[in-house]
Amino acid sequence: MISRTSIFLVAFLGFFSTVYSNVKCPGKAEYELTVYYKWSNATHPNAVPMNGAHFSPLVGCSHSSGYKMFEAGMMATEGVKNVAETGNTTKLKYEIMKQMMYNKTTWKTFEASGKVNGTAHVSGLKVYATADYYMVSAIAMMVPSPDWFVGVAGVNLCDNGMWKENETAMSQPWDAGTKNGSMFDMGNAATNPPGYITVITKNPTPLSRFNRRYHATGQVHVEEGEQTNHALV
Ligand SMILES: *[C@@H]1O[C@H](CO)[C@@H](O)[C@H](O)[C@H]1NC(C)=O
Ligand SMILES: *[C@@H]1O[C@H](CO)[C@@H](O)[C@H](O)[C@H]1NC(C)=O
Ligand SMILES: *[C@@H]1O[C@H](CO)[C@@H](O)[C@H](O)[C@H]1NC(C)=O
Ligand SMILES: *[C@@H]1O[C@H](CO)[C@@H](O)[C@H](O)[C@H]1NC(C)=O
Ligand SMILES: *[C@@H]1O[C@H](CO)[C@@H](O)[C@H](O)[C@H]1NC(C)=O
Ligand SMILES: *[C@@H]1O[C@H](CO)[C@@H](O)[C@H](O)[C@H]1NC(C)=O
Repeated sequence: MISRTSIFLVAFLGFFSTVYSNVKCPGKAEYELTVYYKWSNATHPNAVPMNGAHFSPLVGCSHSSGYKMFEAGMMATEGVKNVAETGNTTKLKYEIMKQMMYNKTTWKTFEASGKVNGTAHVSGLKVYATADYYMVSAIAMMVPSPDWFVGVAGVNLCDNGMWKENETAMSQPWDAGTKNGSMFDMGNAATNPPGYITVITKNPTPLSRFNRRYHATGQVHVEEGEQTNHALV
């Protein structure tokens, strides 16, 4: 597991140092997404809520380089805030739809059903990409928490004109900057004015203990599919 983790970590850093490619990928690609959640005493000793670690249903979309669902240093949109604070995906899906209609920066939304625990994995989510919408972003809330979430942003499925057979992205835990609190609880005051989205590394939260060592809380893996072209697994 150790060696795989380091490979994934490289992949994780890789997509943040955006590799620019002028060559578009051809046609459309279909991927199947699998999300592996990792938040339990086994992976994160003493950084797990007593009443059980969970994640809200993952929501995401394929998009162009013109859309940023979230990023360190950015203010959370209402949609991202709602997912991070309550797991409610309604507003984020609406934002994605508005981007689709007015800005042409997003394409297809996908969403998992139901809450899952910190060792579960969710598979079979279809993700569709095209020449212009070749990136994927997705988030889910860490439950219980004030406004912490896991997610990946701008994962690139196109490699210099070739659809990737597979792609893996690791998620560190993120803080949406919208709610006070440093424990695994939910009834806190809003942060006023709201702060920026940050990776949880230094804050005095129970999570800081493992974040300094960059233990991921979720992993998103993409793999070649049987159908059209490709699949996120
Ligand atoms: C995690 O393990 C520690 C040490 O064994 C234990 O004290 C704690 O109660 C466990 N937490 C959960 C949520 O099971
Ligand atoms: C989710 O949020 C929307 C508004 O953004 C609200 O109308 C809806 O009732 C909420 N759903 C739940 C289950 O709270
Ligand atoms: C999306 O389009 C609307 C209407 O044209 C514009 O006001 C808004 O700034 C655009 N948003 C982004 C993120 O580009
Ligand atoms: C977590 O969910 C998985 C899949 O649903 C299940 O097999 C497992 O027993 C659950 N673990 C805990 C601690 O509830
Ligand atoms: C992922 O794709 C690479 C080629 O791009 C291939 O070598 C590797 O075996 C694939 N991994 C899986 C798990 O399919
Ligand atoms: C929320 O946190 C901010 C920044 O730490 C602090 O200034 C503010 O007083 C807190 N608000 C409440 C209601 O506790």
